[in-house]
Amino acid sequence: MYEMKNEYLTGIEMIDEEHTKLFEIADKLYNLLNDQFIPDKYDYILEVVGELKDYAKKHFADEEAYMEKINYKRMFTQKIQHAEFVEKMSSYNPDKIDADQKEACMDILEFINNWLVEHILENDLKIAEK
Ligand SMILES: [Fe+2]
Repeated sequence: MYEMKNEYLTGIEMIDEEHTKLFEIADKLYNLLNDQFIPDKYDYILEVVGELKDYAKKHFADEEAYMEKINYKRMFTQKIQHAEFVEKMSSYNPDKIDADQKEACMDILEFINNWLVEHILENDLKIAEK
């Protein structure tokens, strides 16, 4: 469902690999939601949502270090967007997730996917142009 596409490739290996991994974790959450054999997914959901947040943090730190190294001019915009994403990921309320696991997770996934695609296409691709 959620996957890396060729049009998202920046050509910078580390960034592309980490973006791929972010899509993979999102896809793992999607598959978990649709797994009929796990009726109560609460613990797993919190685990994968946590994994997504942690990996996003790692990725942003790596990406920002790279931008610093090449003296990237638009780094400030990037940092603000990254911080907003982490804040949003930290704002999810576990009780709300439990009230309606599927709907809450689809909201999270929709947010993540839209954010990632838009951010990559509008911002990250420019890193390679310098
Ligand atoms: Fe970025």
